[in-house]
Amino acid sequence: MSHKIFDLTNKTALCIGGAGGIGSESCIALSEAGVNVIIADLNVQKAEKLADKCRSNNVESMAIEVNVTQEQSIDDMFSSIFNRFSKIDILIYFVGYNNRQRISEFTKKEWEKTFEINMTGCFLVCKKMAEQMKKTGGGKIVITTSIQGVIANPLYSAYAASKAAMIHFAKIAAQEWIEDNIYVNSIAPTATDTEFIQKFLKDNPGKREFFESNIPLGRIAKPFDYIGPILFLCSKASDFLVGHCLFLDGGESIH
Ligand SMILES: NC(=O)c1ccc[n+]([C@@H]2O[C@H](COP(=O)([O-])OP(=O)(O)OC[C@H]3O[C@@H](n4cnc5c(N)ncnc54)[C@H](O)[C@@H]3O)[C@@H](O)[C@H]2O)c1
Repeated sequence: MSHKIFDLTNKTALCIGGAGGIGSESCIALSEAGVNVIIADLNVQKAEKLADKCRSNNVESMAIEVNVTQEQSIDDMFSSIFNRFSKIDILIYFVGYNNRQRISEFTKKEWEKTFEINMTGCFLVCKKMAEQMKKTGGGKIVITTSIQGVIANPLYSAYAASKAAMIHFAKIAAQEWIEDNIYVNSIAPTATDTEFIQKFLKDNPGKREFFESNIPLGRIAKPFDYIGPILFLCSKASDFLVGHCLFLDGGESIH
C-alpha cells in the first residue's frame, strides 16, 4: 500500500498544454491516481480524446481550448472551468515553444513569440490561478521549464533564456504565494521523445546520439519518466519543496 502522503484522490488538476507529449502522459497518470483532470490546450481535438481516456479511470475530465498568448482566452478558460469546478488543487503548465537558430538569425518577432508562449503565458495563467487558489485554501503549481534553462547550448538563446526566466519566476512566485498555502515548484526536463523534438531529431542525424552522449543514463527521456516526479510535486509528499527546480535529466546537469 502506498503512503497516504502521496494520496491525490479527488483532487482536481488543470493541465495547460496538457494534450502534448509530456502533458498527456501526465494527465493519464493523474487520472489513474484519482485526480479529476482538466486539459486546456490550443489543440482541443487532442484534449477531447485525452479527456475520454482520463474518464475511463472513473474521474471527471474536461477538455477546453486555450491560447496562452491571448489574455482573453485565458480569462474565458477560467470562467468556463469555474462554471463546472468549484476548486482547482493543482496547476501544471506544460506549454512550450522552441525555434532553434543562431542569435544573429533571430527576428524581434520570433524572439518575442518564444517569450510570449513560454514565460508570459505562464505568468498570466499562474497569476490568475493563484488568485483563485488563495480563495480556496491553496494548492500546488508545477511549471515545466527545461534543462536548457540551466545549461547553455548554442541555437537555444530565446528558448533557454525564457526557460531560465521561468525557473526564476517559479522561485519568486513560490515566496510570494507560500503564505497563501500555494506551493510553486518547477521541473526541468531533458530532451524527451515527443513531437516537440521528433522532427528536429529526424532532420538532424546524429543529434539523438549527441544528446544521449551528454546524459549519464545513456538515453533521452520518455514522457513516462516524468510521472513520478510530477505526482510527487502535486502531492503533500513535496510540501517542504518551495521554489525548487527539479532537474529531470538523467544526470545531464551533473557536469
Ligand atoms: N520534448 C522535449 O524534448 C522537452 C525537453 C525539455 C523541456 N520540454 C518542455 O516540456 C513541455 C512539454 O513539452 P512536450 O514535449 O510535451 O511538447 P508538445 O509540443 O508535445 O506539447 C506542448 C503542448 O502545448 C500546446 N500549446 C502550444 N502552444 C500553445 C498555446 N499558445 N496555448 C495553449 N497550448 C499551446 C500544444 O498544442 C501541445 O499540446 C514544454 O514546456 C517544453 O518546453 C520539452
